[in-house]
Amino acid sequence: IDLSPYNTFGIQASAKAFTTVRSVSEVQALIQSPAFTQQKVLLLGGGSNLLLTQDFNGLVVKIEIMGKEIVRETDDQVVLKFGAGENWHALVLYCVERGWGGVENLSLIPGTAGAAPMQNIGAYGTEMKDVIVEVEAVEIRTASVHTFSNETCAFGYRDSIFKQQAKGLYIITAITLALTKRNHALNISYGAVRETITALGYAGPSVKAISDAVIHIRRSKLPDPAVIGNAGSFFKNPTIPAAQYAALQQYYPAAPGYPAEEGMVKVPAGWLIEQCGWKGKRTGNIGVHQHQALVLVNYGGGKGNDLWQLALQIQRSVKEKFNIDIHPEVNVV
Ligand code: EPU
Repeated sequence: IDLSPYNTFGIQASAKAFTTVRSVSEVQALIQSPAFTQQKVLLLGGGSNLLLTQDFNGLVVKIEIMGKEIVRETDDQVVLKFGAGENWHALVLYCVERGWGGVENLSLIPGTAGAAPMQNIGAYGTEMKDVIVEVEAVEIRTASVHTFSNETCAFGYRDSIFKQQAKGLYIITAITLALTKRNHALNISYGAVRETITALGYAGPSVKAISDAVIHIRRSKLPDPAVIGNAGSFFKNPTIPAAQYAALQQYYPAAPGYPAEEGMVKVPAGWLIEQCGWKGKRTGNIGVHQHQALVLVNYGGGKGNDLWQLALQIQRSVKEKFNIDIHPEVNVV
């Protein structure tokens, strides 16, 4: 089976076997079957954070567990459970339309609900960890259903327990989110969001205004995977010691940086990559996006391995020029 419809890079690669699961019991049955236990397995949500560098000699499992359910509700808050296969942006719009606050800054992020906690998706000042109550997952070894509280998910920047100790051990089947119905904690910490809200003619920030502004900003900077293959940010933004940042600023007074954990500064990888001259560069069918150097693109017919080689070249040039290590955010298979 050709996997190009199942990864937003649109990379052509084949899988030896492919199946979909639509419920927790289907997951439990599958993981106890020889098809699952006797070969390599790749789990897929929306395929929006994946780079396939070669054919996959195993079973690809697409998680298609659907469902939206109100778990509990008060005048102030609504707690909702979503199946892992629900499209993330559709979920955001569902909440925004109802005036429920908490995920509006995460509008238009590609992918599925179940993939969102893996890398603690984040944008424009909000992260998944700010709204998630719990994650339901099936343990592969035992086929039993586990519930991970927000705390046990050990969320960090583009990180969670599902990328660390629990890596490869669970299949996420549902997520539960707590959203506000009033007294929203609107996050307009990004200047671009505030400016766009005004430019779009809104009198002030609201759940809907923020969602519209974020959609507007993302459309202007980020390529639409339906048109140009991509997986959003290819690299994570690195953090460097404050002293190294100060030294960087000696040579590059305009170097952007944001305070991170104790004594560290987060430097936008997009800036580092642009400084190395990569922005807008194209070789054959692949390249670096012209409006956001952090995004690698497949213009059509690009090879996964060529994209990976390009990523490695970028990584090396950033290391040479700045002595900073940047690491992929996407899952490279
Ligand atoms: N910049 C450049 N050149 C570029 C790109 C960025 O100089 O080509 C510099 C600019 O100084 C800009 C700054 O980097 O002000 C930040 O850029 P941007 O606001 O686009 O955000 P980012 O740090 O590049 C992160 C997330 C995005 C998220 C945005 C907005 C990561 C790896 N990426 O990107 O997430 O949408 O912030 O909050 O943290 C994703 O994960 O796929 C993703 C798109």
